[in-house]
Amino acid sequence: MSKAMTENGNAGEGIKRPPMEPTLWEKSRPGARGVLPPGVDPDTVTGRIPKELLRGAPPPLPELSELEVVRHFTRLSHLSRGVDTHFYPLGSCTMKYNPKVMDRIPEIPGFRDLHPRTDEEGMQGLLEALSLCEESLGALLGMEAVTLAPAAGAHGELAGILIARQYFDAKGDRERTEILIPDSAHGTNPASAAMGGFTVRVVASGSDGGVDLSALEKALSPRTAMVMMTVPNTLGLFEKNISTMVEKVHQSGALLYMDGANFNAFMGVLRPGDLGFDIVHINTHKTLATPHGGGGPGSGPVGVRKTLEPFLPSPRIRKEGGRFRLESPATSIGPLRSFLGSTLVLLRALGYMKMLGGEGLRQVAVHALLNANYLRALLDGVLPRTGEGLCAHEFVLSARDLASRGLHASDLAKEILDAGYYAPTISFPLIVPEALMIEPTETESKETLDKFARDFRTIVEKAMNAPDSVKKAPRLTPVARPDEVGAARDPVLTDPGSL
Ligand SMILES: Cc1ncc(COP(=O)(O)O)c(C=O)c1O
Repeated sequence: MSKAMTENGNAGEGIKRPPMEPTLWEKSRPGARGVLPPGVDPDTVTGRIPKELLRGAPPPLPELSELEVVRHFTRLSHLSRGVDTHFYPLGSCTMKYNPKVMDRIPEIPGFRDLHPRTDEEGMQGLLEALSLCEESLGALLGMEAVTLAPAAGAHGELAGILIARQYFDAKGDRERTEILIPDSAHGTNPASAAMGGFTVRVVASGSDGGVDLSALEKALSPRTAMVMMTVPNTLGLFEKNISTMVEKVHQSGALLYMDGANFNAFMGVLRPGDLGFDIVHINTHKTLATPHGGGGPGSGPVGVRKTLEPFLPSPRIRKEGGRFRLESPATSIGPLRSFLGSTLVLLRALGYMKMLGGEGLRQVAVHALLNANYLRALLDGVLPRTGEGLCAHEFVLSARDLASRGLHASDLAKEILDAGYYAPTISFPLIVPEALMIEPTETESKETLDKFARDFRTIVEKAMNAPDSVKKAPRLTPVARPDEVGAARDPVLTDPGSL
């Protein structure tokens, strides 16, 4: 919360904004408490904790009945928007519906109750499941080896970059200090490359939204360690010249990395390994029905060619004589994180792959493309689009023409909230002025897309005809337009009344 987030009351145009509810501290009443089942004495619970670890006095928490607490948090959860409550066309982030049955897998006691320090013999089942996950991903990606260690997509990128560095070091090639990244790549790519100690060189896109081949050729040199490409790129386009690019990059002695975070756009249809990529990461939370988890723990498995396998993070899972064991090869880049990765997330991903099977996974991609192209066609002519022809799993519109009305993409996004949706991604990718990046995902129905397209059209018409009204959106949220800079720079994360 920031000091700026105290807006309340009249939303204008005769609409009364929902009130800010009292905080738990304000609702607190001395002596109010939750239900204790008969026969349970709180002292018998604390009695099991060694005395020296007990608090001297109860913590200063608000006192409330169980029902008050349930209502408070349920109400808060409804103030936010989620896939389970609203259409959530947040481009780049792939907010698709994850089948709830997947959440049953990490609840299997043999997985759930396993202590991370259990020895190899005590976790044969988990090692077998993870090994199967590596194998299934390897088959989907067309890659000979896979690591499940990275905890997110960007962490997968860092892993890939460290693997590339180790590969060139092992060859004694210390000249390759640069990584080339198209300007249509995801923003985490240059950040990961810089974190991995490389110099980033940006390659411009051509007018069709694809990488400019002559710019790439000019940039390639004996200093190039790797070219990192986001596929599909952030304009929601597949590169038309991938084969030529692969050839040119390999001729220069560099490696080719695919940011395949959005593998849901082509899984089961195309394999990065077959295209000629050397390293690829995917985001299981965008592709394989695992939770986004508010920044983690997630998973960003990385697949590599056989020649790069020795450098994968440790430990590696090995199968010998029907038993699984862990190994840390001397050539490895070393551990990337604690233990074996986000295992309960990976088990969900494995369950999803096994549930859908090869053809089912292909259908995910087919429907992601179908839904995006259907919605794009419905929105034709509403706002200018970047890129021509079919899009991949998402597309980018530009609200630049609304500048003459004093409006930005962010104003449209606020109005979209009032229409009962989460807003598309705005102001990204940076190469499109006033960008709105829309990704419907494969799990939405035709009816939802039809309704969203109608509402979006109405909102843009309103922006053209009544811009001042759009400036007042959103009206239906307790807080309308927080000072976003203040909220980031001067956050107030506790209720001052509680201190
Ligand atoms: C293309 C692409 N690459 C990388 C990432 C980063 O993934 P993560 O947020 O899991 O680190 C994302 C996330 O949306 C992405 O869309």
